[in-house]
Amino acid sequence: MPAVELRRKDWQKIEADAVVYFVTQEQLPGKLQELAEIIPSLRAALDAGDITGKEKTSTLLYTAQAIRAPRILIVGLGSENTLTLETIRRAAAAAAKRAASLRLRHLAFPIPPAPVGSITPEDFVLSVLEGGVLSQYRFAKYITREQDNGLVERFTICASTPTEQRRFHPVVEYARIVCEGVFLTRDLANAPPNEIYPEALADRARQIGTQAGFSVRVLNKAQIERLGMGGLLGVNRGSARPPVFLIMEYWGTRRTIPPIVLVGKGITFDTGGISLKPAANMSEMKADMHGAASVIGTLSVVARLKLPVNVVGLAPATDNMPSGSAMVPGDILRFLNGKTAEIENTDAEGRLILADALAYAERYQPQAVIDLATLTGACVVALGHVTTGLFGNHRELLKRIKQAGERTYERVWELPLYEEYGELIKSDVADIKNSGGRPAGAITAALFLKHFVGNYPWAHLDIAGTAIAPKETDYMPKGGTGVGVRLLTEVLRTWEPLSPEAEEK
Ligand code: BES
Ligand code: MN
Ligand code: ZN
Repeated sequence: MPAVELRRKDWQKIEADAVVYFVTQEQLPGKLQELAEIIPSLRAALDAGDITGKEKTSTLLYTAQAIRAPRILIVGLGSENTLTLETIRRAAAAAAKRAASLRLRHLAFPIPPAPVGSITPEDFVLSVLEGGVLSQYRFAKYITREQDNGLVERFTICASTPTEQRRFHPVVEYARIVCEGVFLTRDLANAPPNEIYPEALADRARQIGTQAGFSVRVLNKAQIERLGMGGLLGVNRGSARPPVFLIMEYWGTRRTIPPIVLVGKGITFDTGGISLKPAANMSEMKADMHGAASVIGTLSVVARLKLPVNVVGLAPATDNMPSGSAMVPGDILRFLNGKTAEIENTDAEGRLILADALAYAERYQPQAVIDLATLTGACVVALGHVTTGLFGNHRELLKRIKQAGERTYERVWELPLYEEYGELIKSDVADIKNSGGRPAGAITAALFLKHFVGNYPWAHLDIAGTAIAPKETDYMPKGGTGVGVRLLTEVLRTWEPLSPEAEEK
């Protein structure tokens, strides 16, 4: 990840490849007049009418020693009336990409002296760093040919006074740590399945836990058997590699305060099993452990920020392989909570491993459980790659996740869990079956999970569309997006006890 720093240095005096200077339409031309006095090329650009402040515009100018940096990139934000955190992220991403294509390595940013539109200087700086840094991601570690990957290497926020430095220190730290968590999650999701198999994922989690400050316990196959996690074992039956069940704990406040439990789907590769997937795009299923990666990334952020909450991460992990020993349609599995399910389709495997994890979560008597899973193609059909599917049993918890989604722009949309949909997953031979076919596929998957939810507030995030991007956009790369890390960090950063609520049916 690029370096992210705050320096006590006037932006006009900082040594950098370029200063990035944001302007709104309303700020023009006034805000640039003073600067135009000292930078002749800016005067000329203004006079030519080339600087409009419109969204998605930028002007690169040479400063001819008027300020220390040799270049200034003037970036438009559009109108203050419509300015949002996301506009700023995207403008910063565009600026960073333009700088990167010019092979500029070090960018410096002034701090706005006052709110811009309705955005506080703190939120402004945070959004600039998020958009800028997150746009500079590449999964390149397996490319051996010489490459100038043309990425910005340093983002410097310039504080002009000690007071400003003190004020923005936590903001820059927060941005750095959150972006690190997103990069880490993207790296895990994008890593090939021959690198990240269940035990390798456990090793990575252990490493990350040691560095960030959370504990990692890894249940092995024998322990998983002893517990009776029939879902995880069923999915693993076709595999040459053993499953693992990761238990990650971060205690940020008194141990007597129950934790929030995060559960992540950790399918390290999903072939579909005996209900084999078609060959086209199957390689995308290396990211079927993105939920687990998001949980690991979030824990790393929460621990590094030392948030005053207790958070537990659970990640059942296995691949889903066809073989002579694989589970087959018609099999009946028995889960940790004693319930049974008939296997209708071995490709509906995520819900089987999550079932055991959701039942296991009950041990913590948690304040809330939030699971993340690349669970259904049906969710991609419903919401595309733009929006995460949201389900759950507790209004206030869902509302908080929606709000965090708006702020972080990791947006979610709720789908119903009406009991009528339950018809679709009734079984003649077991408590339920694991597939309800094509209708309402994201909902029947969530309803399946609901059978394993204990007596706690629960939210389920179907990230099948948002975790795996078919193409690059603004500050999101193609492939693993890191979705969930900023969303959950926001939920946990502002955590307060939930009020008791009659459980919904
Ligand atoms: N991992 C897939 C879902 C998925 C699909 C994630 C596309 C990301 C992109 C999941 O295990 C799966 O195969 N679900 C099946 C369920 C069906 C058999 C009921 C699906 O969605 O087709
Ligand atoms: Mn599957
Ligand atoms: Zn899957």
